[in-house]
Amino acid sequence: MSPALSHAALATGDLRRRRAAAHFGRTIHYYDSVDSTNTVARQLALNGAAEGTAVIAETQTRGRGRLGRAWVSPPFRNLYLSIILRPPLAAAEVAQITLVAGLATAEAAGEWAPGAAIKWPNDVVVGGRKLAGILAEMETDAEGVRFVILGIGVNLNAAAADFPPELRDKAVSLRAATGQLIDRVAFADRLLSCLEHRYDLFLRAGFAGIRPLWESHSSLNGRQVEISGGGQRLVGVVTGIADDGTLVLRDAAQMEIRVVAGDVTVLGGYEKEAASPPSARNWECP
Ligand code: BTN
Repeated sequence: MSPALSHAALATGDLRRRRAAAHFGRTIHYYDSVDSTNTVARQLALNGAAEGTAVIAETQTRGRGRLGRAWVSPPFRNLYLSIILRPPLAAAEVAQITLVAGLATAEAAGEWAPGAAIKWPNDVVVGGRKLAGILAEMETDAEGVRFVILGIGVNLNAAAADFPPELRDKAVSLRAATGQLIDRVAFADRLLSCLEHRYDLFLRAGFAGIRPLWESHSSLNGRQVEISGGGQRLVGVVTGIADDGTLVLRDAAQMEIRVVAGDVTVLGGYEKEAASPPSARNWECP
């Protein structure tokens, strides 16, 4: 990557023009550096910012992921985005927003790298390596869900050296996957469009309405996996996802298991052939 391009700031004027007539990203708060875009978006939401308001930063000093993990945020390379949502949902349904965002992110990334796929519950992978992660954080009060901050980190132009050594064989960027420099404005625009579209569909039809589409973008169907978390360990073959967003496995005794949460490891790695190939992807986000 040339030094000039590696330090080029996001062309926010261009992105704002592209999103001017949209719902998601019509208002964009852009920063050089923040602790976490989710924290900034939360404060904006508490101050009454509208649904669809987006926060983007060039770097995060305390970018966070699931389970208190850090999100490595090298400057000027990637996309660190948080969106304010005000969904008319019960708190128990909010976890499904992570799945909706996984679908939208895989679809947007798939326009550059057709192999991009969802790894339940909150990752997007290419060739088995992590391209993107999603962190949805909700705020509730006595009346229910006040808002949700949907945070998405996507590795766009990061090089291996931008990641700490322990992540270098686990993470990937869209640039590394495709060999081409990624236009971050074009990517952010497509991601916001896909999110807006899939979120609308989800609010109208529930997760059941996007389930077939989600499954067609899943990297796990037909794969033998280990699920760990909460001191438990389960092994089985993934058969799909249920209408409530739980992952469905079949264990060695052919018993169906539904998993609500956990960390997934693909046994034998993604190089191993899946027992059943993913279904055809017959439509993409508009
Ligand atoms: C994960 O994989 O565990 C989720 C990672 C989520 C990272 C994004 S980057 C933008 C937003 N701000 C954060 O601090 N986290 C999310």
